[in-house]
Amino acid sequence: MRQAIQNARSLLERLPRARLGFFPTPLEKLERLSDRLGISLYIKRDDFTGINLFGGNKVRKLEYLLGQAAVDGATHAITYGATQSNHAMETAAACRRLGIQPILYLTAVVPPKPDELRSNLLLDHLLGAEIHIVPIEPGETEADAEERSFAMGAERAAELNRSGKICVDIPMGGASPLGSVGFAAAMAELSEQADALNGLRFSRIYHSTGTGGTMAGLHAGRAMLDMDVQIISVAASPKDESANLDRVFSLCRAALETIGSGAVPDRSRMQVNLTQWQPGYEQPNDASCEAIRLLAADEGLFVDPVYTGKALAALLADARSGRIRRGENVLFWHTGGATALFAEPEILGDAVTGG
Ligand SMILES: Cc1ncc(COP(=O)(O)O)c(C=O)c1O
Repeated sequence: MRQAIQNARSLLERLPRARLGFFPTPLEKLERLSDRLGISLYIKRDDFTGINLFGGNKVRKLEYLLGQAAVDGATHAITYGATQSNHAMETAAACRRLGIQPILYLTAVVPPKPDELRSNLLLDHLLGAEIHIVPIEPGETEADAEERSFAMGAERAAELNRSGKICVDIPMGGASPLGSVGFAAAMAELSEQADALNGLRFSRIYHSTGTGGTMAGLHAGRAMLDMDVQIISVAASPKDESANLDRVFSLCRAALETIGSGAVPDRSRMQVNLTQWQPGYEQPNDASCEAIRLLAADEGLFVDPVYTGKALAALLADARSGRIRRGENVLFWHTGGATALFAEPEILGDAVTGG
């Protein structure tokens, strides 16, 4: 493994990277939850990536995305998400560190109350981002409104570029080949840490998936390092299974190309777990509420209702059903997002009171 890690690292080092976060993030065993479930459960603490208190998976992507933007002399960066988007907030913060003006187009999946700023939207304001709220108009779907936000962003970028500024357009979730490189690099980081723990090997990695950028990067890293691990990507929103896998697979291949690796990813090993997203994006369910409470009660750690609570709920369900065998080494990749605990009551649901 050591040689494969070195090869991966020397390829990755050729790409521009803005050093924004705290890496490597800790890899820890969850002793009490392991005992409860009868498995050997570890956590990768990407809630600790920085660059501020709130961490999360986007910092890994932004190191590469904004690393390139800085080389290109960007003065402005536009990105997209929901009004409580972790990606949008982390992008705004990272832009500030690099002297780039952040511009956000935020689709109001859960409409914010204008007189009561909460959570990431509040932080976006503190960060002084240029904020455009895009409501979902009557007769429009969430996807329609998102499409409209992309068109608005493209128009704003063109206007800035015409006026002599340099504006980069970062896709929603940072889901581009360059963004996914961050998670291929993360697999090299994980492998190094696991090697140092007496050659620890995980049979499964559970993580939350939204735009698919993290998933594509994890699979790119898996292919590059020739790791034999099952990656269970737990959907935070409804997905057309095969179209989504096609998209993630091509993103994964494009990430490997960007890195300059000849590794070939295996589409048949890609799987999205669709058991937990209901009733919808930013809408909690009983299992995610229980997962939030259980991790807090057993380990003093927090997962969120939108992403990581649902991913942990899938892991808990698989451990309880016996799909994860007793004693298996399993990794829960914490991708951050705890600010959602302070978002609108519709987003948090009954996590506190039980439900
Ligand atoms: C906390 C958290 N976990 C997981 C994800 C999913 O990551 P991706 O969009 O790369 O699939 C996101 C991003 O949307 C997130 O904010």
